[in-house]
Amino acid sequence: MTSSIDIDRYAVAGNPVAHSRSPEIHAQFAAQTGQDLTYERLLCPLDGFADSMRAFAASGGRGCNVTVPFKFEAHGLATHLSERAKLAGAVNTLSFDEQGWFGDNTDGAGLVRDIEVNAQRPLAGKRVLLLGAGGASAGALGSLIAARPASICIANRSVNKAQALITEHQSYAQTHGVALAATGLDDCGEGYDFLINATSASLGGAGVPVAASVLAPGALALDMMYGPAAAPFLSWAREHGAEARDGLGMLVEQAGEAFAIWRGVRPDTAAVLSAMRLKLSAG
Ligand code: ATR
Repeated sequence: MTSSIDIDRYAVAGNPVAHSRSPEIHAQFAAQTGQDLTYERLLCPLDGFADSMRAFAASGGRGCNVTVPFKFEAHGLATHLSERAKLAGAVNTLSFDEQGWFGDNTDGAGLVRDIEVNAQRPLAGKRVLLLGAGGASAGALGSLIAARPASICIANRSVNKAQALITEHQSYAQTHGVALAATGLDDCGEGYDFLINATSASLGGAGVPVAASVLAPGALALDMMYGPAAAPFLSWAREHGAEARDGLGMLVEQAGEAFAIWRGVRPDTAAVLSAMRLKLSAG
């Protein structure tokens, strides 16, 4: 019999972290795949992320998901990084082993899998408008490029931040044949096949920061948030004839990717996404 001390420990680290759904998602993956592990929430002091990680790793922690505001710090702490984490400049998945601390970023892969597999909307050859140029966009951009859309326009309130993101990704985009552009929110053009909202505008109570003409008929409009924070964007998208999608699928898919890195087995994310949807809709 395994004693509780031998069970592999995982966690999600953030501040705040109480709202995180990751423990329920990983518990479902573990049950589904017959893996013996625990997954907890780690509230880290804003100036104490590194110490919290060291303590967790020293007490048997095998891996940790990292959320706001520590993804950039986690990137700095990792002893080695995946190519996609290097490109993103941010880490959402740490693995602790004899080789050191491996930093990866599964956010972009989660987003693309949700769009292409769950929503069944291939990105190849399409026009994408990505709103925002903060951490959420940085985490997603590399994977969006790897899906080879024709173009990705990054529109942000501060255009210089969108431009900086483009500079970091330019050579990667060129090798994939993807055209990148940076614009403001008022002049980002029209008729996109995909609109992806990676701004935090709704958290501050602001409305959708672009005109409805950015949507091509039948476009997919996805907000990386879910729950009440995503609701205004989703109703706006539906009102203007788009297929609306929240960020719950991305959340479950990025978790599935992290679970596969840690445990070497890919969980059935579709089943967990359905269960989470049911749970959220029940309030
Ligand atoms: P995250 O890690 O969630 O991406 P972030 O790095 O703080 O958070 O980035 C927030 C993004 O939302 C930025 O692109 C920000 O625009 P600026 O770079 O111009 O600040 C965008 N954002 C926040 N509030 C917004 C609003 N009211 N309207 C439009 N964009 C907004």
